[in-house]
Amino acid sequence: MARVVGNPARSHFPIRMIDAVAAAAALVDEIESLAKARAASGGRLVVGLPTGRTPVALYAEWVRRTREGSDALRRVVTFNLDEFVGIDAEHSAACRSYMKKHLFEPLGLAPEATHFPDAANLAAYERAIVAAGGIDLQIVGIGRNGHVGFNEPGSPRDSRTREVALARTTREDAAAAFGGLDRVPTRGVTVGIATILAAKRIRVLAFGAAKAAIVREACSARMGPELPVTWLRDHADVRLIVDVDAAGER
Ligand code: GLP
Repeated sequence: MARVVGNPARSHFPIRMIDAVAAAAALVDEIESLAKARAASGGRLVVGLPTGRTPVALYAEWVRRTREGSDALRRVVTFNLDEFVGIDAEHSAACRSYMKKHLFEPLGLAPEATHFPDAANLAAYERAIVAAGGIDLQIVGIGRNGHVGFNEPGSPRDSRTREVALARTTREDAAAAFGGLDRVPTRGVTVGIATILAAKRIRVLAFGAAKAAIVREACSARMGPELPVTWLRDHADVRLIVDVDAAGER
């Protein structure tokens, strides 16, 4: 049974505590009902998506439900949060490769329906999001330093799509995928905090004991650039979705 704790003062995140598998099912339900509603008026749902270990169960459930026959789950337009700079799009550790493997190919999404920020044309990404009607549902994970996308500590609230230097912890976490820390790019391209806050709904996911410390800080630290995830508390329809381990309650 999910426990829902709301905080109208926005000094904290509204939190939903639920295990990762149930969270995936609930999020796919939400995506499906929003996509159906949008399809009824002839459009496509616009979703903002993260990479990382956190959303793997979500994408697996999304694929499973689509294969079970939910055609609405295929009728989406996607904008990813971020990408590494200076690597080939086909590199196995690229966010593009991750998304192809976990979601786009199994879903049969046309490449034209999927988008990634490009360091060579930053403003075009913001324009493409606006042209698509804005992000209806933005899903994000949290880096252990409090980053969202590649919005590393120091990211201001009014930041937009831009190229950034990756934090040491971010590069360390990516080292295994790249075959060593020295092979991890030093720069990334990411949507900004303002880009994320412009989404109609934001769902922040954090599962497992390794996220307990950052979840505690995300909820209790002063809102500010030192911990970029805290900016997301300042949104009218945000939920932090955690399991008991990430909530530090086990
Ligand atoms: C990565 C990505 C983020 C992701 C975060 C957490 O560096 N840029 O978008 O949410 O780190 O990753 P994980 O889910 O593997 O903990």
